[in-house]
Amino acid sequence: MGTDKVVLAYSGGLDTSVAIRWINEKYDLDVIALTVNVGNEADFEVVRQKALRTGAIQAFIADARDAFVHDFAFPSLQAGTLYQGVYPLATALARPLIAKLLVDCARREGASHVAHGCTGKGNDQVRFDVSIQALAPELRIIAPVREWRMTRDEEIRYAQEHSIPVPVTAASPYSVDANLWGRSVEAGVLEDPWNEPPQDAYAWTINPRFAPEEPTYITIDFEKGIPVALGDDADHTERLEAVALVTRLNELGGAHGVGRIDHVEDRLVGIKSREVYEAPAATVLHTAHAALESLTLSREQRRFKAIVADEMAQLIYDGRMFSGHYRDLSYYVASTQRHVTGSVHMRLLKGEAVAVGRRSPQSLYDFGLATYETGDQFDHDAAVSFIKLFSQGLRTQARVQLGAGSAPEIRGLVAPTIDDPEPGSSSG
Ligand code: ARG
Repeated sequence: MGTDKVVLAYSGGLDTSVAIRWINEKYDLDVIALTVNVGNEADFEVVRQKALRTGAIQAFIADARDAFVHDFAFPSLQAGTLYQGVYPLATALARPLIAKLLVDCARREGASHVAHGCTGKGNDQVRFDVSIQALAPELRIIAPVREWRMTRDEEIRYAQEHSIPVPVTAASPYSVDANLWGRSVEAGVLEDPWNEPPQDAYAWTINPRFAPEEPTYITIDFEKGIPVALGDDADHTERLEAVALVTRLNELGGAHGVGRIDHVEDRLVGIKSREVYEAPAATVLHTAHAALESLTLSREQRRFKAIVADEMAQLIYDGRMFSGHYRDLSYYVASTQRHVTGSVHMRLLKGEAVAVGRRSPQSLYDFGLATYETGDQFDHDAAVSFIKLFSQGLRTQARVQLGAGSAPEIRGLVAPTIDDPEPGSSSG
């Protein structure tokens, strides 16, 4: 075996196990296995031993749960990033962190290469490669699964020939990736977007049909957009560490079937793919956080921040978190979060997490202005003058161009009709 080394992101599954031996043979490199714990349910010591038995010269476990929640999941919550409006980005958020830990380990161990088990069709290869290239341009990247083009059966034969343990349990019909922010499920029968996801696609959430008939109410306290405490009634919340808080919300949400997402997604490499996600904590927290922002941000902050969130979601999805653009936007988000402090009361019931109450010492909600009761402080006369100026330009345009005063047909006025798509040409 060679003297040069590669650090491989090792999950313990068939692909990365075969990769250890394949890299030995093909590249003549010693393999150091690095398994990153971002809250995926695995017995990490078993995984570590398996790496060593399979031929890794060293095997490390990095517990990155805190860093993952503090530095990736919660900032993304503050930003409100949901890819294509629905996917909380669990897998995408973890990749740059894993890449960073690979790079750190390679430098520490004097390795010249890093490796990961991603295929050539997915987003994850892009996220790893881009992040690694940004952080450590000197490291060479090996992606065995992208390179070897073995079918599953060929891989199993390769494993048997090299005495690599093949999982004896019936392999999951799905490709699954999980961390504290959610569980991503693809392949198998899900590849037909017409098929309803079967029960066995889900592992964290109960079918909402069989969820309890009685709701669970929870209160979440936020400080500057970060959830810091959890309680079952509004006046008794308990401060929790980030990882504990997310873990607890995954359990509470999952028990009510909250956070199932069925998404036809546009991958970075130009493929549409059918994805199923389970993200109870992320779903509850995004809903609660948005409810608190509705109270504490102005109308233009909410509108513009949604645009920023969409841009950031795409950057996260595309593996471009280590970019100046991402950093610039994250400073904007941090600034918006200075007053997002307060509590949200949530109801979990039958697959839904709904904000039913919100309050904040920084609230912009002014009861004296909003109330329809008598004695409000709103200047009703000012409304008439305001509307006069607000409609000034529109009234001019309506008179000159839209035929105001001459009873124009409603048809074609606000929208073209299908058989007459030319603006304004409809004669009714
Ligand atoms: N489509 C999702 C994403 O791009 C999930 C990928 C999950 N990976 C997996 N090996 N199942 O973030």
